[in-house]
Amino acid sequence: MEIQGCSAVVTGGASGLGAATARKLAELGVRVTVFDRNEEGAKAVVAELGAGTNVVAGDVTDPADCQKAVDQAAEGGNLRIAVNCAGTGWVGRVINRDGSPHDLAPFQFIQNLNVIGTFNVMTKAASAISATEPQIDGERGVIVNTASVAAFDGQIGQLAYSASKGAVVGMTLPAARDLAVVGIRVVAIAPGLFDTPLLAMLPDEQREALGRSVNFPMRLGVPAEYGELVAHIATNSYLNAEVIRLDGGIRMPPK
Ligand SMILES: NC(=O)c1ccc[n+]([C@@H]2O[C@H](COP(=O)([O-])OP(=O)(O)OC[C@H]3O[C@@H](n4cnc5c(N)ncnc54)[C@H](O)[C@@H]3O)[C@@H](O)[C@H]2O)c1
Repeated sequence: MEIQGCSAVVTGGASGLGAATARKLAELGVRVTVFDRNEEGAKAVVAELGAGTNVVAGDVTDPADCQKAVDQAAEGGNLRIAVNCAGTGWVGRVINRDGSPHDLAPFQFIQNLNVIGTFNVMTKAASAISATEPQIDGERGVIVNTASVAAFDGQIGQLAYSASKGAVVGMTLPAARDLAVVGIRVVAIAPGLFDTPLLAMLPDEQREALGRSVNFPMRLGVPAEYGELVAHIATNSYLNAEVIRLDGGIRMPPK
């Protein structure tokens, strides 16, 4: 797909994988709308990227905020890319150490953010992209959702997170089938361990140990490597309905 001069909406674009995606797409001449609840962080990313990029501050779990972000990105009529990076993790076992059950509230919170948030932006963006002029082969655009290797190798304490990322994986094929008729591809990326603020919460030693657990290269992923893959997915029209592990070959152990 030709992406230069088109528009993209990137959720979670204020930080980590989303910010790296916004940087890469802007470098390739895409007008990026950074949609994040962290307005200050989003503005800092956009200031660095310059003309054409813009911010919508809001919550991906709120359909009205998502519509606003998509409408802003679609201004000018050339929205072709939606990338869902807003999301977070949670640690909690089916039963706690004292035998009490996993609380429902954090489980629901994680599904709401990681699944409903992705659903909200994917559906609204697809609707807007479906109204654009098609390119070669009738292609109109692409949606990239962020899963995780936790969808496949869920570790102890990842019940809520793995469930949410499994749902992102599960949406990929039906969404790609639904949207084929309007020339929109859907691809998910399942990152392994990336050096973002999400992992920065861990002490240095633990982060280094995590890096050494990667098959090859023995280090954490760099967010720019995620942005590179998004750009490749966007431009390679034959990639569709696939979940791509981007993980240095890691297979997560039980803990
Ligand atoms: N970092 C990793 O190793 C890793 C591995 C696998 C999957 N992932 C997934 O990648 C995605 C991005 O992770 P990251 O490491 O870049 O995290 P991050 O914390 O650096 O960035 C997440 C961004 O999402 C935004 N956000 C959170 N909730 C939001 C909401 N309700 N509405 C709008 N914005 C919201 C935050 O403000 C933040 O800017 C997440 O879905 C995460 O689960 C990350």
